[in-house]
Amino acid sequence: MEQGERAQSARAVSDGGLDTGGWQRERIVDALRRVVSPRWFFTLAYWRGIKPWDTGITPPELVRTVEGNGPERAAPGRALDLGCGTGTNGVYLARHGWEVVGVDFASPAVARARERVAHAGTLAGRVRFLRGDVTRLARLDLGPPFDLIFDLGCLHGLAPEDRSRYAAGLASVSAPGACFLLYAFGPTRIRGRSAGLTSEEVGAVFAPAWVVERVEHGVDRGDRTSAWYWLRRVG
Ligand SMILES: C[S@@+](CC[C@H](N)C(=O)[O-])C[C@H]1O[C@@H](n2cnc3c(N)ncnc32)[C@H](O)[C@@H]1O
Repeated sequence: MEQGERAQSARAVSDGGLDTGGWQRERIVDALRRVVSPRWFFTLAYWRGIKPWDTGITPPELVRTVEGNGPERAAPGRALDLGCGTGTNGVYLARHGWEVVGVDFASPAVARARERVAHAGTLAGRVRFLRGDVTRLARLDLGPPFDLIFDLGCLHGLAPEDRSRYAAGLASVSAPGACFLLYAFGPTRIRGRSAGLTSEEVGAVFAPAWVVERVEHGVDRGDRTSAWYWLRRVG
């Protein structure tokens, strides 16, 4: 896949992009968002296959972090994919030498991610997908600290109080010097309520454990502002 295609697809990944299904799909997704909890929304969406964010494409920002030669490059170690969905990026990381744990609370997504690993064969033992809540990481058996944390489209949908719990959990499971690569919407509305974060809010929610080293601003599906963030674990 060409870089341009990857970038275009990656922009439609993160919260019910409409690239695959047209306006009916948009209306179904919006209606579902309003009437069910986030957990049930995602579980039903995966179960019914209405998951336009699930492009199967690893975004170029992660590819750059894993394979590039720039300052954001991270040497293989342990990686945690928060809100891992069906495992596209966890499997990508495992194929590139990382020992990976993916966490998602939607059981159909976790089941699909585990199937991918089973089919890949050679990845057994290098990647685990767990059903769990990213705002309650202490409840999970995650193993030793992580060197890379990845979040593509999960944090920005959490309620403010859940973001703080997410940040506290993240600080406790990451190694000193770890890289955190985050994709998040700017302020917007999801399921009829406020969602997304400003760059300042990202800096504040993860301080003092993390510093923001790099931000790349963009636009998701032509209307929502969004950004990629590279944060570094302090201490
Ligand atoms: C927009 S999707 C992105 C999925 C995946 N990162 C991708 O790019 O395909 C957001 C994901 O976060 C998961 N999620 C949202 N809130 C969560 C929570 N509190 N705990 C665990 N997973 C959560 C959803 O189930 C969903 O799979």
